[in-house]
Amino acid sequence: MAPITNEQELQKTEFRWAMIVTGAVTVLFAVIGISSFVMALHPPSHVESIDPATVSQSKEFAESNLGTSVDPDGAVTVRIIATQFAFVPRCIPVPQGKPVTIRVTSPDVIHGFLIAGTNANTMVVPGYVAEVRTVFGTAGDHLMPCHEFCGLGHSEMWALVRVVPQAQWQTDADGKARCDISR
Ligand code: CUA
Repeated sequence: MAPITNEQELQKTEFRWAMIVTGAVTVLFAVIGISSFVMALHPPSHVESIDPATVSQSKEFAESNLGTSVDPDGAVTVRIIATQFAFVPRCIPVPQGKPVTIRVTSPDVIHGFLIAGTNANTMVVPGYVAEVRTVFGTAGDHLMPCHEFCGLGHSEMWALVRVVPQAQWQTDADGKARCDISR
């Protein structure tokens, strides 16, 4: 190619490159925007801190308060502690087709969780409460593995989310729901 000497030619080339870059950026933003709305993907934006040293003594994450609870107004909240190397509780029942808020924290190191087949996916950082809101469409068991390397037992760290059809959904007098991993 002959060297470009003409000032106007040079400007045209620069303009062309600017258009290509603008086009690429537009495509990237469109992909992010469309996937956010259509697939309900959103970056975690919830910042809530907690003292990792006293998590189990806190009111919310005391052992008796962990698991699935239904408030008198019908709101479903799941509270989980992610610790080396288990999720507590290990079996998590949730009602099908209802909004569920999942709140997780860690007393030790960084863990992560995702619920297979759903958009629930976040890191669990000590000192913070991770919160995920989702609706479970189909009934059945979903695997919930830890997806952040947290030590030698990382690969053994998982829980089960059991999506229960509304007709079979039951809570006890305190509004707690439980399930058993062996069944
Ligand atoms: Cu917890 Cu990996």
